[in-house]
Amino acid sequence: MVGTRPNFMKLAPVARMLAARRAVTHVIVHTGQHYDAGMSAAFFDELAIPLPDHNLEVGSGPHGVQTGLIMQRLEPLLADLRPDTLLVYGDVNSTVAAALVAAKLGIRVGHVEAGLRSRDWTMPEEINRVVTDRLADLLFAPSRDAVETLHAEGVPPERIHFVGNVMIDTLCWALPQAQALDPAGRRGLAPGGYAVATLHRPSNVDNPATLLELVATLAELGRRVPVVFPLHPRTLARLCDLGVDRSGHDGLRLCEPLGYVEMLGLVASAALVVTDSGGLQEETTHLGIPCLTVRPNTERPITCLHGTNRLVPRDQKTILAVAHRALAYRSPARPVLERWDGRAAERIVRVLCDGAAFPADAPPAAAPPPHSEPRTLARPESALLD
Ligand code: UD1
Repeated sequence: MVGTRPNFMKLAPVARMLAARRAVTHVIVHTGQHYDAGMSAAFFDELAIPLPDHNLEVGSGPHGVQTGLIMQRLEPLLADLRPDTLLVYGDVNSTVAAALVAAKLGIRVGHVEAGLRSRDWTMPEEINRVVTDRLADLLFAPSRDAVETLHAEGVPPERIHFVGNVMIDTLCWALPQAQALDPAGRRGLAPGGYAVATLHRPSNVDNPATLLELVATLAELGRRVPVVFPLHPRTLARLCDLGVDRSGHDGLRLCEPLGYVEMLGLVASAALVVTDSGGLQEETTHLGIPCLTVRPNTERPITCLHGTNRLVPRDQKTILAVAHRALAYRSPARPVLERWDGRAAERIVRVLCDGAAFPADAPPAAAPPPHSEPRTLARPESALLD
């Protein structure tokens, strides 16, 4: 069951692994939370995900309406299908709505990307994470700290499987294609000579003063290196309300949301990423690209502790100071995170189909791939003060 752009990248490797199991029928339900072609259909196409068997077409709306509509439309479908397991992904409204329906119907719930916590109860995603994990029977954790969080919350250990990060499975699968596409070269950008920005969190884009300051910050950064800024529909709508010129200015280049492969290719050879996205914090860590996350917290602290991520406040002076430092001193090392090895979906399917178990106390993953060397960076608190 999927519903939004970041869900599709998580579904893709699991769908591929399940397709290889002839005895298993995998039914894909799309809630329709994201519905624009550029936010949805394009991803199914380029990630080679089979088209959804069912689309609930719920669209946008206030949280209660969106969540309620998904539950209302999913309940009869699940009651009819009676799957052995309902797999839900990530932390969006579609995730928690589907988990609620399945749990009440007595259907086993598997949560892919379990155990992430920002400890920020003002984020709708945090509420979705906590509730979904409480409802799940199988909790697929991407990292060791996520496993520890689940233990601390009292989840029975036998429900928790430390499988690794499915986003990295998709990244590994698509990277050769993304590099061959050379989206930077097609835009006349030199490798390592530009930045990529994305912003869509309500806390960053819904307040006009905050959004205008962030756009001004990116425009200022654009005076040093070109900044490509693909606009999420929410952000585009807010900018249109404010009468901001979509053609951009200085080095700031505003554009439509990009497809997964194009975005990956652009990020992979960028000098810097400025974002509030969860997935990009992970992808930049795996790629060794410096990432500034414009948030006071992250549910992915491992990307700050062992990766290339830095939390930055919304203030222009700090963002520019940290950005300029990151542009000046980039390490060529690529962090290696345990079980972020392109095999998370394989482990998930072994749990689902073979009854395998992946406890966190199992031996660490095999040797890192040859291009990588481990690196530990500053703690998020100190990074914030950089
Ligand atoms: C959702 C997730 C967020 C995730 C993000 C990724 C929740 C609570 N939030 O936020 O965790 O990081 O997706 O993109 O589930 N819109 C369109 N076309 C679309 C989709 C959205 O125009 O295809 C517009 C609508 O005006 C809508 C707004 O974007 O009101 C926000 O969409 P919504 O589904 O509410 O959440 P996101 O902000 O995308």
